[in-house]
Amino acid sequence: MKLVTCGLPYANGKLHIGHLRTYIPADVYVRYLKMIGEKVVFICGSDCHGTPIVVNAEKEGLKPKEFIEKYHEHFQKVFSALDVKFDYFGKTTDIEHHERTKEFVRKLAENGYIYKKEIELAYCEKCDRFLPDRYVEGICPYCKTPARGDECDQGCGRHLEPGEILEPKCKICGNKAVFRKQTHYFFKLTAFDEFLKEYLSKLSGTENALNYAREWIGNLKDWCITRNLEWGVRFPLDDSLVLYVWVDAPIGYISFTEKATKDWKDIWLEGKGEIVHFIGLDIAYHHCIFWPAMLKGAGYSLPSAIVASGMVKIEGKTFSKSRGYVVWVEDEYLKAGFNPDYLRYYIVNYTSHDKDLNFSWDVFRDKVNNEVIATLGNFLFRILSFAWKNFGKVQIEVDQEILNQIKATKEKIVNAIKKWEFKIASDALMELASFGNVYFQNSKAWELLKSDKMKAMKAVANCLQIAKALMILSYPVMPRSMERVAYALGLKLESCSLEDALKVDKELEVRKPELPFKKIEEEDIEPLKKTLFERFSEKSELEVTIEDFKRLDLRIGKVLCAERVPKSKKLLKLIVDLGNEKRQIVAGIAENYSPEELIGKFVVVLANLKPAKLMGVESKGMILAVDVDGKAILLTVDKEVKPGEKIK
Ligand code: MSP
Ligand code: ZN
Repeated sequence: MKLVTCGLPYANGKLHIGHLRTYIPADVYVRYLKMIGEKVVFICGSDCHGTPIVVNAEKEGLKPKEFIEKYHEHFQKVFSALDVKFDYFGKTTDIEHHERTKEFVRKLAENGYIYKKEIELAYCEKCDRFLPDRYVEGICPYCKTPARGDECDQGCGRHLEPGEILEPKCKICGNKAVFRKQTHYFFKLTAFDEFLKEYLSKLSGTENALNYAREWIGNLKDWCITRNLEWGVRFPLDDSLVLYVWVDAPIGYISFTEKATKDWKDIWLEGKGEIVHFIGLDIAYHHCIFWPAMLKGAGYSLPSAIVASGMVKIEGKTFSKSRGYVVWVEDEYLKAGFNPDYLRYYIVNYTSHDKDLNFSWDVFRDKVNNEVIATLGNFLFRILSFAWKNFGKVQIEVDQEILNQIKATKEKIVNAIKKWEFKIASDALMELASFGNVYFQNSKAWELLKSDKMKAMKAVANCLQIAKALMILSYPVMPRSMERVAYALGLKLESCSLEDALKVDKELEVRKPELPFKKIEEEDIEPLKKTLFERFSEKSELEVTIEDFKRLDLRIGKVLCAERVPKSKKLLKLIVDLGNEKRQIVAGIAENYSPEELIGKFVVVLANLKPAKLMGVESKGMILAVDVDGKAILLTVDKEVKPGEKIK
């Protein structure tokens, strides 16, 4: 038995196209496995804990419970609209989940993998509270990029432990936080170094995740697993704390399996099943390091494969909700009325699973029109219409050449799927459809109709077998469209196996084909493109136009005089030659430059900066410098130029 899981979506916002890179390929995988006769359980559910949920619920004036319910329903609605069909879709607020989590954590404690320690945590004196995870923002101690309390989301991507963040600030009131001591509980991750080394050398899955995880071996740190929060699973050894969300969330894989099948013990306790986790590369560390160590420590079965997709980008830009690089599944894709199969195909076929995937509306239109419609849809529609118009009932006899072709396609797909090569599998479908198009074209069946109707029927029979094979082999990728093909062929897809692609029926009675392959026109995607680009420009304060840039009057100046501003450690008063005038500018560089060494230096001046007074001294303009760890380094020119020269 196989258990296939997907990274649990945070019940913290709507689904976007990035999320689908986990769910659609997993659904395609499960559908193929079921069609080759494997026993599979496919589960997922809402990840309902963690500080972002509490913070955002507060913002909307909702209780966390109401807040997560809204998204839990949204997920189910969207997954069903996209034909992502879990055997069970749970949520981590369920009592059974809490019970399983506590049992799991107690096991870890019994086995000696949990200890307590006093640590220094960010504390807001104004709000009078500790600041777990997303309640605090600051600077990543590793790469010095602005970061969230628990992850360096814009920089190096590291998971950050409580207390690690530098220059913490409270997210609620914006005040500078202080550090205060508190006792927390740790999971002894370091005890699993050897185990993980061994385990990761054998673990199956995609190389992107495995390689990433292997690099961490030898560098592990114990992991703080408790938080000061009301919302979450109570820590069984100390009721005043809850478990960190990344402790309880993966245990959802177990608690949801318990709901999905009575055989859950075989999978999670007896090691009689295979566990395959589908995730995005962003959560590889949690799944390849934390999770196997937790399972090992508590005595549960270990995953046999971690399948990590590359990340989704939007119009070539890194996905970012805050910067507007996002496409919403319900409000944009589904609302536009596109066949869900188009998106399923795009996601599995754009590139190999472990590579980044770019989503662009133009590429979407081209891929759908040229591949799904012009190749697959065209073949199916052409042959089904032809058979329906001219024959209705068709006696089926199939040439060996055709069966060989189908067999080769089927084998290619099965091999590819086993290696999570969804692109290779879906390419094979298009190749078979192309083969069908060429075969039908060469058969000239429409001419044979007049000269030799039997021969025409034979050609049609061969094409119908290809159509039937395409229907079966494409079903996991495009279930909705293939249901319509099945209707036209008078066949049932339910309980079909991939093997049936080679089964020859005596006779097929073709009905009028009504296939959902509508070409995508520019006007269909135009408003969606507009929405997206408006969102980019609205959100991207970071981008400036060339006109914006031209408003800055940047000039080269030559320092004529320099002296210290009395009573100031940092400020120097400069007189700068700007060609047609001499300017007084105050610069905060006294700690790094002496007045003498500045005389005669060429500097870059922002000449149209609003004048200001610094320590009572008037300053008209600004000297540009680089700030390296608080040390100013002046910008200058490569060759001598005339003072006053404009920078363009
Ligand atoms: N709640 C955690 C997972 C806990 S699993 C025990 C989480 N949630 S999420 O909502 O942020 O992401 C859900 C899934 O979507 C994850 O598999 C994640 O990797 C995937 N993706 C979310 N955004 C993505 C992209 N932009 N690109 C590709 N996949 C991404 O992580
Ligand atoms: Zn960092």
